Amino acid sequence: MTLYSKKLMALFRNPHNMGRIENADGVGKVGNVVCGDIMHIYIKVQKDRIKDIKFETFGCASAIATSSMITDLAKGKTLNDAMKIGRNDVASELGGLPPIKMHCSNLAADALHEAIYNYLSKNKMPIPKELQKDHEKIIRELNTVEHEHRH
Ligand code: FES
Repeated sequence: MTLYSKKLMALFRNPHNMGRIENADGVGKVGNVVCGDIMHIYIKVQKDRIKDIKFETFGCASAIATSSMITDLAKGKTLNDAMKIGRNDVASELGGLPPIKMHCSNLAADALHEAIYNYLSKNKMPIPKELQKDHEKIIRELNTVEHEHRH
């Protein structure tokens, strides 16, 4: 028996929205302090909605499947609704993740929030408190990853 759900394996083999958006309106970069893996989320925003979204993930099967899942969940949503997508939403949409892999699924929601933060701050728009807190945590974690996991 595999540790992963069928849905997770299917997305790992055929991820949706993989790649980079040139001239993205917002980019979120996050690092996983546990393993040192890195994820980027790129968004294009039109009339306050996520019109397009792509990801690049240097990580394991769970990280790739959760990246794919978050892009599907966020595409077409308003920024406000996309901000509400949390870590647990991604894991539960995938039919759960083994506890040892939960840290991998956290990256996706963080990267999405960070891309929205990047968009709002570049455009000098108000930043909700929660998003600001997420951003500060993400930057701390990214610094840790870059110091401890880079060769
Ligand atoms: S082991 Fe690094 S993201 Fe999963």
